[in-house]
Amino acid sequence: DASDIEKGTYPHFMLKEIDEQPLVMRKIIQEYQNEDNEIKLDPEIRKAMTDCDRIYIIAAGTSYHAGLIGKQFIEKFANIPVEVHVASEFSYNMPLLSEKPLFVYISQSGETADSRSVLVQTKELGHPALTITNVPGSTLSREADYTLHLHAGPEIAVASTKAYTAQMAVLAILAVDTAKAKGIELDFDPMQELAIVANAMEAMTDQKDLMEGLAKDFLSTTRNCFFIGRSIDYYVCLEGALKLKEISYIQAEGFAGGELKHGTIALIEEGTPVIALATQEPVNYSIRGNVQEVVARGANACVISMKGLEKKGDSFVLPQVHELMTPLVSVLPLQMVSYYAALHRDCDVDKPRNLAKSVTVE
Ligand code: G6P
Repeated sequence: DASDIEKGTYPHFMLKEIDEQPLVMRKIIQEYQNEDNEIKLDPEIRKAMTDCDRIYIIAAGTSYHAGLIGKQFIEKFANIPVEVHVASEFSYNMPLLSEKPLFVYISQSGETADSRSVLVQTKELGHPALTITNVPGSTLSREADYTLHLHAGPEIAVASTKAYTAQMAVLAILAVDTAKAKGIELDFDPMQELAIVANAMEAMTDQKDLMEGLAKDFLSTTRNCFFIGRSIDYYVCLEGALKLKEISYIQAEGFAGGELKHGTIALIEEGTPVIALATQEPVNYSIRGNVQEVVARGANACVISMKGLEKKGDSFVLPQVHELMTPLVSVLPLQMVSYYAALHRDCDVDKPRNLAKSVTVE
């Protein structure tokens, strides 16, 4: 059938889409840059970003996780406060809004009903909306005032991979563009950093054997798995856990390293797999402490660190990228480990049970 043709030599769309990530980064660089190597972005979006006093990011699933990283970019670069909300909860618990809010809807498909219902609500209140989507012309794109395109190409596997990294890349560009428009001086060239990210992604997708080995060692028979990280790594842990849950049906949770001692460490038993991310210099010491704590209670720990922060015994060392760009790179081993775990557990990787690619019911 047609889907077989599109898959090419790949056994699954998910693996193909994981591998496409460096290409998508390069495509985004191309699409968001003009001949003078400046950021190319709709001036109306620039104006909406600089006019607002607070940004409300609304999304679901993996797109929500990208929003958590987007908040870091926008707050750190553009100095605008950002709230990130799960779409399905927003309507019941709408926070007190600022005077000039801008709503940013992040949605791979642009069709998620939960996000759309918030969009309808905030449009009725008269607030401007920007949709960041892989499908221009989708419902969320048509109904919002502005659209930013992800340029990731069709994503077929139910578990989102390349859309997540594309969402973060576009959010980084948007944040830097806004900072520039506001006259904020930055020592950060998003295109250059994304080019470094693309190379780092490529180096990782070349190491699938290692990822398959990790999946076998840590996840072939387990019923659960924990991901721990601090700071920006914590948000990637949430995404890593979601990937693993979605396709391998292993019960997985992402925890903030500092929260372990407040309850979750009680879950650690002999042989419990714990995957730790250590890509942030300021928290490297404390996350290593957490790893020791879980190992002392019998956990089977797998540490994924970044070059410059690595320690003996780490399972995988990521190539070095800018400290705010690490999520775009650290998620790849998590995607690949989830893929191989699902494969070895005979799960339907591209079409996991009970899940849909785009959820058009509330
Ligand atoms: C579904 C998909 C997820 C996705 C979420 C949000 O649950 O299975 O992979 O992250 O919807 O989708 P969206 O298209 O709005 O990004």
